[in-house]
Amino acid sequence: MSRTIQATILRKQVAAIVQAAGSSPAEAEQVAANLVLANLSGHDSHGVGMVPRYVDAVAEGGLKPNASIRVKLDAGAMLAIDGQHGYGQIVGVQAMELGIARAKQNGSCIVSLAESHHLGRIGHFAEMATSQGLVSMHFVNVLSRPVVAPWGGGDGRFGTNPCCIGVPLAGAQPFILDFATSRVAQGKMRVAHNKGEHVPTGYLIDEHGAPTTDPGVVVVPQSNGLFGALMTFGEHKGYGMAVACELLGGALTGGGTWHRPADTARTVLNGMLTVLIDPAKLGTQAAFEQEATAFIEWLRQSPPGAGFEAVQIAGEPERQARATREQEGIWLDDATWREIVEAGKKVGVTVD
Ligand SMILES: NC(=O)c1ccc[n+]([C@@H]2O[C@H](COP(=O)([O-])OP(=O)(O)OC[C@H]3O[C@@H](n4cnc5c(N)ncnc54)[C@H](O)[C@@H]3O)[C@@H](O)[C@H]2O)c1
Repeated sequence: MSRTIQATILRKQVAAIVQAAGSSPAEAEQVAANLVLANLSGHDSHGVGMVPRYVDAVAEGGLKPNASIRVKLDAGAMLAIDGQHGYGQIVGVQAMELGIARAKQNGSCIVSLAESHHLGRIGHFAEMATSQGLVSMHFVNVLSRPVVAPWGGGDGRFGTNPCCIGVPLAGAQPFILDFATSRVAQGKMRVAHNKGEHVPTGYLIDEHGAPTTDPGVVVVPQSNGLFGALMTFGEHKGYGMAVACELLGGALTGGGTWHRPADTARTVLNGMLTVLIDPAKLGTQAAFEQEATAFIEWLRQSPPGAGFEAVQIAGEPERQARATREQEGIWLDDATWREIVEAGKKVGVTVD
């Protein structure tokens, strides 16, 4: 049965499973906190529903509990980091902490992170940077299953390759633009499939390359053993962005790009190229603060369009969701909760 769980309780339940799967208590708590924060932020696709996949990935050997980053190259304002297949919620934070310290020293830092297990919600890393007054840009590729079709193509050739930009705003909450380059995140199709819902046209093609509204085509193998695919957002433009993420997050980081047929592995690896800029060191801090604030105010003065209450700034929907879900709890559909209970059983933990 579906259920609504308070964040504090869900954190404990998820931490117990992650710990039983091999993580130290501190690691398990950090992973659980990150996943629950994704749910709180309204992104159930990157929340606790990932736990069954992580448990399987640990068993497969593709996700290594208690791994830390290894710095492969340290050139001051350039860091090349190997995530050593550790939890992205751990190695991603470690890589960002190093990069943030360097950007504060040098004014900027480029952080290349390869071989990280699933990094989850990329906005988490932009929020780390903006909370320190830094601008951050992230280009990420996904080595898992080629679930997104190229513009003009008829099958999946790459992942949902997310892109994220964080900008601190003086005296206000930051701009956090964080999106999959697919029309929707793959995890949202899992959630829709679990709920038995259909999705709008233009999101998906089936295993024969024909348009469909059934999210199951990218969640479970179809009659011929093949999957369908997601479309990119913005037609050829989103497609170009997805390719940029593959080239920067996959090729430039050295983590690798996708160029082979799908397999059944549950492991998800991410490569992430991050660019950090300290506006205070760029010499434009005063103008930046003033101009950014003036522009956001100008945007907000736009009269609401049909069906909207007001113009919003990226990052706001997530903050609003947090405020609501902290109060009301996190709703989990039946299939997602059942999968979490099963994942717990696999590692000897009972959650109910
Ligand atoms: N680690 C991975 O491999 C991976 C892969 C794909 C996606 N993801 C993550 O999945 C999450 C979901 O991605 P998505 O594409 O479904 O996101 P989405 O479509 O829900 O939101 C994208 C962005 O749009 C902004 N936004 C939403 N409504 C808005 C409005 N009315 N006005 C202004 N801005 C608005 C949000 O603040 C957000 O920054 C992201 O956190 C992403 O990082 C991760």
